[in-house]
Amino acid sequence: MQTIGVIGAGQMGSGIAQTIAQHGLKVLLTDRELAIAEESRAGIERALGKLVSRDKIAPAEAEATMGRITAVANVEPMAEAAMIIEAATEKEEIKQAIFEDAGKVLADEAILASNTSSIPITRMANWSPDPGRFIGLHFFNPVPVMGLIEVIPGLATNQDVTDRTMAFAHQLGKEVVLSQDEPGFVVNRILLPMINEAVFVLGQSTASIEDIDLGCRLGLNHPMGPLQLADFVGLDTCLDILRVIYRTTRDSKYRPAPLLVKYVEAGWLGRKSGRGFYDYS
Ligand code: CAA
Ligand code: NAD
Repeated sequence: MQTIGVIGAGQMGSGIAQTIAQHGLKVLLTDRELAIAEESRAGIERALGKLVSRDKIAPAEAEATMGRITAVANVEPMAEAAMIIEAATEKEEIKQAIFEDAGKVLADEAILASNTSSIPITRMANWSPDPGRFIGLHFFNPVPVMGLIEVIPGLATNQDVTDRTMAFAHQLGKEVVLSQDEPGFVVNRILLPMINEAVFVLGQSTASIEDIDLGCRLGLNHPMGPLQLADFVGLDTCLDILRVIYRTTRDSKYRPAPLLVKYVEAGWLGRKSGRGFYDYS
């Protein structure tokens, strides 16, 4: 059975680990501290429990899935992994330290992938021991439910690494969009200006939070309004993505709305912190 390493056990790392394990592969999951990876594993168990209680999966499948996920204290056990996927906080300095660390244990043929939402793949590849085996593998939230993965080769990525990564994404039951290494890739380049504009609309008191979301849900048939979706993604992550794209492109379309900055400075990060545009407490 192939082993995949996942570094970063927040909402994305948890969803990625769950999805990979549900597709029969072994997962080693780590974070800054073992306790975070263990809590993530417990969260996956609760999510699978809900699926069992709704008759979506059999209890034996949930048990087998959990048996394939191990929380580990650091990257050392990932020396056995065929691929290591980084899904940590969207900050370059954090990712750089992770790639330097993971690079020390990466097996000879193994692939190092990043779930970054926006940071250039070619830049990050240079922080790894072999840029030819570095690639962007961008999942969507919630990972077990969303049908898409973007695959983003950097300038130096080997073709066989792109091919193997696309095959891996298909193995997880996802459709693949192949994107060039351009700021925001395909989907976030389109999504983030919408979310940002919704915060400008709110900041100008054009309408209430609820009405902005209602407008997009019923007027555009989106499953969530943009402010609810921003809370779901994480307001810190939205701000980080906008800042990366703005810094890279200098296109004013991506300048973060001042109100978004204010919310993040207040620690109102959305669902994960209990408060964002909505209250989740
Ligand atoms: N594991 C497996 N299945 C799960 C699950 C989990 N952890 N969580 C939910 N599901 C399943 C449910 O069982 C349910 O399945 P059925 O339809 O077969 O019953 C289905 O997912 C829908 O779940 P719910 O009924 O609980 O919730 P919902 O109908 O309100 O849908 C939602 C929730 C799927 C999140 C929907 O609101 C949605 O699509 N929202 C938009 C999400 C989106 O746009 N994501 C992309 C964000 S951008 C991004 O990810 C990129 C980036 O870099 C920022
Ligand atoms: P999150 O805040 O839920 O989780 C980030 C995790 O990274 C935390 O558990 C944190 O402890 C961990 N971390 C921080 N420093 C670390 C380190 N040095 N070593 C190991 N782990 C470390 O964020 P998230 O939403 O899961 O986002 C993670 C990545 O996925 C980001 O790059 C983000 O842009 C990307 N992404 C997010 C979404 C989304 O909708 N939230 C969608 C696609 C991609």
